[in-house]
Amino acid sequence: METPQSRKVQPSKRSVLLALRYYGRELARLRRLTVPTMLLSALGNIGINYIAPLIVAKLVGDIADNRDVSVGSALPYVLGFVGVLLFAETLWRIALHCLNRLDALGIEHLYVIGMDELFAKDAAFFHDNFAGSLTKRVLSFATRFEQFVDTLTFQIVGSFVPLTFGAVVLWRYEPLLVIGLLVMVAVTAVCVVPLIRRRQELVDEREEAIARVSGHVADSLMNMDTVRAFAAEGREAAEHRARVAASRRLTLRSWDYGNLRIDTLVAPMSVLTNALGLLLAVTLGGGAHGVEAIVVAFTYYANATRIMFEFNQIYRRLESSMTEAAQFTELLLTPPTVLDPPLPETLVRGAADVRFERVAFTHAGGRPLFEGLDLDVPAGSKIGLVGRSGGGKTTLTRLLLRMTDVDSGRILIGGQDISRLRQADLRSLMAYVPQDPAMFHRTLRENIAFARPDATEAEIRRAAEAAHVTEFADELPYGFDTMVGERGVKLSGGQRQRVALARAILRDAPILLLDEATSALDSESEILVQEALWRLMDGRTALVVAHRLSTVATMDRLVVLDRGRIVEQGSHDELLAAQGAYAKLWQHQSGGFLDDSPARAEFP
Ligand SMILES: Nc1ncnc2c1ncn2[C@@H]1O[C@H](COP(=O)(O)OP(=O)(O)OP(=O)(O)O)[C@@H](O)[C@H]1O
Ligand SMILES: [Mg+2]
Repeated sequence: METPQSRKVQPSKRSVLLALRYYGRELARLRRLTVPTMLLSALGNIGINYIAPLIVAKLVGDIADNRDVSVGSALPYVLGFVGVLLFAETLWRIALHCLNRLDALGIEHLYVIGMDELFAKDAAFFHDNFAGSLTKRVLSFATRFEQFVDTLTFQIVGSFVPLTFGAVVLWRYEPLLVIGLLVMVAVTAVCVVPLIRRRQELVDEREEAIARVSGHVADSLMNMDTVRAFAAEGREAAEHRARVAASRRLTLRSWDYGNLRIDTLVAPMSVLTNALGLLLAVTLGGGAHGVEAIVVAFTYYANATRIMFEFNQIYRRLESSMTEAAQFTELLLTPPTVLDPPLPETLVRGAADVRFERVAFTHAGGRPLFEGLDLDVPAGSKIGLVGRSGGGKTTLTRLLLRMTDVDSGRILIGGQDISRLRQADLRSLMAYVPQDPAMFHRTLRENIAFARPDATEAEIRRAAEAAHVTEFADELPYGFDTMVGERGVKLSGGQRQRVALARAILRDAPILLLDEATSALDSESEILVQEALWRLMDGRTALVVAHRLSTVATMDRLVVLDRGRIVEQGSHDELLAAQGAYAKLWQHQSGGFLDDSPARAEFP
């Protein structure tokens, strides 16, 4: 069973580069922290791993040369050694202090950028990408910065730069020592790189398996009621176990490959390199500089081989942080299409008549829905949109909101092409009640006030009163301060609709878009709410979608949509007289409900 969430985005090279660019920009932006962090950690490392051993080497050299070895003559060395260590340690502390700030500030900014990028996405993007997986990706994009910077600081800058220092010192003793080291590193790299490539494949398979686990977990959890209702816990748990087992198998395989194949190769190479260093130092270095050169060569070679040995791990860390960051940047490779125009027209707030002109639209991956649709909604008129399920009613309202752009043709409000307006200006003209209104997991009051954050308590109350929210709000444990649960699960369908209507009322916009806004209300409540709606619609342009035809029968005009085509329009009486599609629908409404199924339609 494949779930949409488990369709993992395999990060492409472009997305990895983009992630690197974002991280690089952070390092540049925070250069006042980046520079001291990198510099001081490199200097600290040079002090501890290269200068301190140099002092010891000199002392040992002195002793070996049998010069005066009294406590007095050794004291400067000892003091120097302690001084270098203390100083280097202090540099390390300062570097760490800067690094913590660099990490924290970078993560903060990346969080903000990440969400900004998501806010800019098209509505359709959120139909293709699920909230759970987006949450994880935007989180990782920000937090993986820490691992990236830490690896860069400690392992790359903090190890490789000091190694260069070591090479310069070694060169002064004996160039062959450096050449020997370079040869060993090169040979190891040539042997290891193909293995790392192979491991990359294993890592990809592992990541895929992990994504399949989290996809299934999210899907099961989100549909827990359905799982329960069909007593499918066992089935879902078995599927989960199978996916977790597959993930464990592939995870172990990729880990083992790292430990057994790569490290098994690198370990003897580093031992060999160490031996070579000692051999070279004894045979070559020994001559001119004696014991001192041998000690220096030996410690520096040890440092170098430690880094070689860590290379696999460094690569793994960098790769895992970049892979995760790239799973987010992958989403940014396709830029949003619904954009504000570069030079937006100024919105003229006047007559809010709406015109659809030869509008063509096809949902991504679907069949053409609208092909040259024309619709005229004079300012202040109330239009009922009816018709069979899937006819395109919701899509029509969303095109008007510019949630998606038309493929061709245009939509005008008050004579202005909506694509020439700023999106925020356009939407400020509309109060929209979606077909399935979702709530924020916030209080009831916050949910209503979302339509207009500057609304006063009295205005919120009035809107709540008009939409008959107050009736049930007063029964809730904390009244208007009650949290409504994720997506509003603690409210009934009809209650959610009333909250959505209260939002629309509070919004106080010239155009009303109501998509099945009262469908979940019982007839009695609907009549009450309807009265409020009529009052609200007074003087405004309204597009009201309804299956329950009685809801819209008294509108100025009814438009019947079928498979993206307007098959009929006119007033209720006109359409009944025409005896067409509407009359048929009206006939089939038993008890005020429309039934689509032909079986029921034949029922007397
Ligand atoms: N995001 C989408 N991606 C692809 N196709 C879609 C999408 N949304 C809707 N559709 C398709 O577009 C057509 C019109 O859908 P729409 O939701 O506009 O119908 P509707 O008239 O509102 O139906 P209902 O009365 O059931 O709400 C349907 O065939 C639907 O499958
Ligand atoms: Mg719909």
